[in-house]
Amino acid sequence: MESIQAIKQRFGIIGNSPALNRAIEKAIQVSPTDISVLVTGESGVGKESIPKIIHQLSHRKHNKYIAVNCGAIPEGTIDSELFGHEKGAFTGASQTREGYFEVADGGTIFLDEVGELPLTTQVRLLRVLENGEFLKVGSSKVQKTNVRIVAATNVNMFEAIEKEKFREDLYYRLSTVDIHLPPLRDRQEDIHLLFRKFASDFALKYKMPTIKLTDAAIQTLLKHRWGGNVRQLRNIAEQLSVLEQNRTISAEILKSYLPATGSNLPAVIKTSKSESDFSSEREILYKVLFDMKSDLNDLKKLTLELMKNGNTKDVEKNNESLIQKIYGDDEDDAEYEEDTIENNEVLSIPEHSANHTTPETLDKYHFAEEIEEEETLSLQDKELELIKKSLERHSGKRKLAAAELGISERTLYRKIKQYDL
Ligand SMILES: Nc1ncnc2c1ncn2[C@@H]1O[C@H](COP(=O)(O)OP(=O)(O)O)[C@@H](O)[C@H]1O
Ligand SMILES: [Mg+2]
Repeated sequence: MESIQAIKQRFGIIGNSPALNRAIEKAIQVSPTDISVLVTGESGVGKESIPKIIHQLSHRKHNKYIAVNCGAIPEGTIDSELFGHEKGAFTGASQTREGYFEVADGGTIFLDEVGELPLTTQVRLLRVLENGEFLKVGSSKVQKTNVRIVAATNVNMFEAIEKEKFREDLYYRLSTVDIHLPPLRDRQEDIHLLFRKFASDFALKYKMPTIKLTDAAIQTLLKHRWGGNVRQLRNIAEQLSVLEQNRTISAEILKSYLPATGSNLPAVIKTSKSESDFSSEREILYKVLFDMKSDLNDLKKLTLELMKNGNTKDVEKNNESLIQKIYGDDEDDAEYEEDTIENNEVLSIPEHSANHTTPETLDKYHFAEEIEEEETLSLQDKELELIKKSLERHSGKRKLAAAELGISERTLYRKIKQYDL
């Protein structure tokens, strides 16, 4: 039998608290049997490793291991997912389908969040646990399967039974052996160990030096309640690893990443929020990067065209959509600093006259006409007029107007202010 330490290494489990070791030891002990196991513990404590250990150490290891998140499957389809359905069993059932219990014959099914199973599904599950029998949805033909069940829950099953949300008989059938993983706050000796492991993993992943906690920060880490347990700790380690320039993390910095709920409030069971918060932040960053890359490629294309084809107008005409894409979507009111060299840029006023204004250019640049009519306009007035028209033509989009006028956006912004546009 593999030792607890060897199992930890094989399954990437960090920690050395007696409670964790005891849980792993129990998993090793029950693995050669077909006994049902219920893994209990708050969200994020690491329940998902237990069924994997049990399956891998069992004679079933060459057959399928299927993990099912019972809470994530809609109530209407869960029976069909687990037990399959006959063709025509319900609208949309155009084919006969095998369920997980048929597919995993000879293997192991991990029923995560088993407390979420609807009562009707609980009846079917009880039957398959008792004699290996099940019916496909819409079928009256009894089928047999040989599946080992490991279930997990973070809800208080006694409460669920009390409220008649969970069948008592099923509970006892599932929990022949109970493996409990205590919350992280009750595994003090593992907290810093886990943090260091995650910090080193993320340093490798993001190719940055490993973050390190000051002594005071370690104390903060140990005192925190860790309502989201190891999952939350891992997220915090990732955020710090990615976002903090200074790789030595003080207690103050660490606190700024911890939820403000304080350490004495009840545990927040659902931690998926903080996880998704961060992942969405990361998604936004990725999106910005991809957008920038795409803009850069478009600009390269445009520059190349300009180099090949000296005629700016042609390039502009042929690449209208590209130009719109690069310059056209920015309407923000960003303030620009005023004291830059660029502010000295001036607008070159085209000297249009009726003679050399072709109908085509007239059509495209309406403003040429108007300037021509008002010969008496001062240079400033002409500039003002040009800017106004350009902005109108581009529905106020400064990037586009600035590009057309041949000045920087910053200069355009300054002039807009100057003319009080
Ligand atoms: N002892 C541990 N060592 C290393 N990583 C762990 C440990 N416990 C949990 N994790 C990690 O924390 C996250 C949450 O664990 P998980 O098993 O999904 O929690 P649960 O199913 O109990 O909600 C996973 O990324 C998992 O790899
Ligand atoms: Mg889980």
